[in-house]
Amino acid sequence: MDIRQTAAIVTGGASGLGAATARELAAAGAKVTLFDRDAKAGEAFAGEIGASFVEVDVTDEASVRAGIEAAVAAMGKVNALVNCAGIAIAIKTLGRDGPHPLDIYKRVIDVNLTGTFNCIRLVSEAMAGNEPNEDGERGAIVNTASIAAFDGQKGQVAYTSSKAAVAGMALPVARDLASLGIRVNTIAPGIFMTPMLMGLSEEARTELAADVTFPKRLGQPAEYARLARFMIEMAYLNAECVRLDGALRMR
Ligand SMILES: NC(=O)c1ccc[n+]([C@@H]2O[C@H](COP(=O)([O-])OP(=O)(O)OC[C@H]3O[C@@H](n4cnc5c(N)ncnc54)[C@H](O)[C@@H]3O)[C@@H](O)[C@H]2O)c1
Repeated sequence: MDIRQTAAIVTGGASGLGAATARELAAAGAKVTLFDRDAKAGEAFAGEIGASFVEVDVTDEASVRAGIEAAVAAMGKVNALVNCAGIAIAIKTLGRDGPHPLDIYKRVIDVNLTGTFNCIRLVSEAMAGNEPNEDGERGAIVNTASIAAFDGQKGQVAYTSSKAAVAGMALPVARDLASLGIRVNTIAPGIFMTPMLMGLSEEARTELAADVTFPKRLGQPAEYARLARFMIEMAYLNAECVRLDGALRMR
C-alpha cells in the first residue's frame, strides 16, 4: 500500500509506540487519526504532527464507532489501522495477597485483547467500502502483541494471556478478511523505551538491556514505527508475527 495513499487510525496514539508510528506515517505523507483515552496528550501530539485526534476508549463499542466516523470525516476514508492501545500489570497467579484478582485479569484482557478485536471488527467494516488498489487491497491492519506472548515471565499471566491471544488472532482474522483485500500482521516487541517502562529505575532498565542479545540496548519507538509502516506497505506480508527484540528471550 502506498503510504501517501494511506489514511490510518493509530490506537494508543498519544504515547509510546503508537505516537512513534503516527509520527512516522504522517512524516511519510499518510493521513493519520489518533485514538486514545488520554485527550490532553492526544490533542497536543496530534497538533504537533498534523494528525487528527479523537478521544476513544477501545473497549467501548459506541466510542470506537464514533471515533471511526470522526476519522472518516477527517481523512475521507480509513485504509490502515495500527492497534497500540494497551496496559501492563504485574501480579502473580497466587501471591502473598492471595489469588490474582479476577477483575484485574479481566481488565487487562478487555483493553489489550477485546479492545484490539473491537477496533479490528469495526474498522474493517469501514475498510470494506474502499475502492481496492492495484493489488486488490482495501486495508492493512497491524496489531501489537509482545514477546511476553511467547516467553511470559513471573507476574505476567494476565498480560501474556492477552498478548498470546492477539498473536493468535491474526491468521483467522486474515482469513476472514481476505476476500475484502484486508491484511493483518502482528509485531511482538521486546523491551522498548516508552512511558510504559519509564516507571522502572535506571538500574532495572540497564539490567533489562543486558539480557538483550544484540544490539545491547532497549528498542527505540521509531524502530517499531518503521516495522509498522513496512507492514502497511508490503502487500505480500499477511498473518505474520514478527518479534522485534534484538533476539531477547525473557527468562
Ligand atoms: N514498551 C514496551 O516495551 C512494550 C513491549 C511489548 C509490547 N508493548 C505493547 O505496545 C503497546 C504500546 O505500548 P507503549 O509502551 O507505547 O505504552 P504507553 O503506555 O506509552 O501507551 C499506551 C497508550 O494506550 C492508551 N490506552 C490505554 N488504554 C486505552 C483504552 N482503553 N482506550 C484507548 N487508549 C488506551 C494510553 O492512554 C496510552 O496513550 C501496548 O499494547 C503494549 O502492551 C510495549
